[in-house]
Amino acid sequence: MFQRASNLGSFAAYERLYTESVREPEVFWKRMAEEHLIWRRPFRNVIKWKAPHAQWFTGGILNVAENCLDRHIGTVRENQAAIIFEGEPGDVRTLTYLQLHSDVCRVAHVLDNLGVGKGDRVAIYLPMIPEAVVAMLACARVGAIHTVVFGGFSSDSLKDRINDCQAKLLITADGGWRRGRVVELKSAADKALAHTPSVQTVLVVKRAGNNVGMHAGRDVWWHEMLAGAPAIHRAKAFDSEHPLFILYTSGSTGKPKGVLHTSAGYLLGAKLSSHYVFDLRATDRYFCSADIGWITGHSYVVYGLMSNGATIFLYEGAPNHPEPDRFWQMVDRHALTILYTAPTAIRAFMRWGDEHVLRHKLTSLRLLGSVGEPINPEAWQWYYKLIGKNRCPIVDTWWQTETGSILITPLPGATPLKPGSATLPFFGIVPRVVDDQGREVAEGQDGKLVITRPWPSMLRTLWDDDERYARTYFGEYPRHPEWYLTGDGARRDKDGYFWIIGRIDDVLNISGHRIGTAEVESALGTHPAVAESAAVGKPDDLKGQALIVFVILKEGQTSSPELAEQLRAHVAREIGALARPDQVRFASGLPKTRSGKIMRRILKDIVAGKTVQGDVTTMEDVSVIAALQAGA
Ligand code: PRX
Repeated sequence: MFQRASNLGSFAAYERLYTESVREPEVFWKRMAEEHLIWRRPFRNVIKWKAPHAQWFTGGILNVAENCLDRHIGTVRENQAAIIFEGEPGDVRTLTYLQLHSDVCRVAHVLDNLGVGKGDRVAIYLPMIPEAVVAMLACARVGAIHTVVFGGFSSDSLKDRINDCQAKLLITADGGWRRGRVVELKSAADKALAHTPSVQTVLVVKRAGNNVGMHAGRDVWWHEMLAGAPAIHRAKAFDSEHPLFILYTSGSTGKPKGVLHTSAGYLLGAKLSSHYVFDLRATDRYFCSADIGWITGHSYVVYGLMSNGATIFLYEGAPNHPEPDRFWQMVDRHALTILYTAPTAIRAFMRWGDEHVLRHKLTSLRLLGSVGEPINPEAWQWYYKLIGKNRCPIVDTWWQTETGSILITPLPGATPLKPGSATLPFFGIVPRVVDDQGREVAEGQDGKLVITRPWPSMLRTLWDDDERYARTYFGEYPRHPEWYLTGDGARRDKDGYFWIIGRIDDVLNISGHRIGTAEVESALGTHPAVAESAAVGKPDDLKGQALIVFVILKEGQTSSPELAEQLRAHVAREIGALARPDQVRFASGLPKTRSGKIMRRILKDIVAGKTVQGDVTTMEDVSVIAALQAGA
């Protein structure tokens, strides 16, 4: 059924197009860019590649917001819903493409009037409400670079990101709803703003109605500014390589990396993958549960979906509010057809009980997606049977903030599925699984996942740190300076299918969120009782990984359950609740190499309750292992 109707049609069609895309990449990408994007001036070159720097579609100019909105105006789509929004309290709002376009034009005028334009940075700290989409597209329209900061991040995290990119404008809200309570975003933003001299103006969306202080001369209400602005806006066009956004993500140091994406290549990757991976059609109502503050919200709520003219469903709040069946209620209420979510959410639904699902029909669903971490077979089967009723394919999509769009994935109706495998590369993508020397490992063996050729939606650099960009992503194999390092381990089976194992660097994946061990350690380091710490992941049925921190206290400090609780709260305050450690373990020593580097693999074995494996000859003091195992 699905096969005959899908956009691609068959596995043979996938193989044909994939072969073409890797045999003659320039021909393939030229055709795709011409077919899928709307250009104000055609590009001259498909790619200029001098590793590690790529430039795609140079010579061309376009406007990304025009590609997402204006192209639908004057067509049948203009009166179709672009966004169906449901707030946590139950309020519902629908915006057609025409209405969304008008709002974006109004905000574009506001930005023009505030002197925010090409190349200026705008920080966005909003709940999951339509204004978040409007704000992003308005930035794109005037050529400003947005950096969306997830609303669950702390004031400190917001401050660091604003200061790193020197944002001129902040767009925030009074508050948003989460589990029946108001999350006070404006007051969190105010704390950050005391230390962000670059911010000249703060636009405040009224969402939750909570009281906020408005700082005269700096803070203005969004609705007041919009009221006077015209709904028509003539947009300028920008170079293909004009920066579109910065999105901060965790790396292996304490400082988050400002991943920079540019315009044409990013948009093409997001649009093309949305079209094929979600098999989009005009009647779809697509629900991605990721927040706009993550790359999934950028590519698969906003840019990829809107450029395809899809109807997206946005939900503001928690999946279990007021009851654990909120998602399934909404699927039926709005007749949603596609659901894209994370394995950690699926495992939470499983835990809450089948009865919450079985109460609802879910007959509108036709396709399911998974992203963010490997999906375990048990969760896959549950998702397939309980949610998809054995009739919806599951697309397990592998990609990263840095890749901009999905790189390894099944295409529904075409790729035979294997639960737990992200299956095969998307068009134009040539991944390999290699050993430390860069040799391809044998079938079924674990290795490092690299992408051997550039692709249009790849990151271009790290904001203000090109040296870190080159070192982090391209530095590993001197004989292959053009290979992009994913930081993930993987293996390939006899059918060429990829099985992603997870991060092999100092990055944890907790409930599908990336958290750097060094970030947690540096947050702990600011607590007066802590001398040293080490953060590690422990396998966890629900979250994928749970966050465990080992803490060595300063002289004179005594460990206690109260102090452990204080330290957990301290990390949540410093970074955001998503980084709250699951457990604090006090220790008297940490396993270190003689050069002083913490041997994290040993700590990982200890928290997993395994016998410590591998070489310990480089260890400074082997007795530490026994002490930690004994809980000292
Ligand atoms: O380890 C991989 C895991 O998530 C990492 C990327 O995280 P982030 O940049 O936050 O982006 C998440 C959303 C794209 C990857 O390095 N990951 C993502 N998708 C999958 C996955 N692991 C296994 N299977 C996936 N489908």
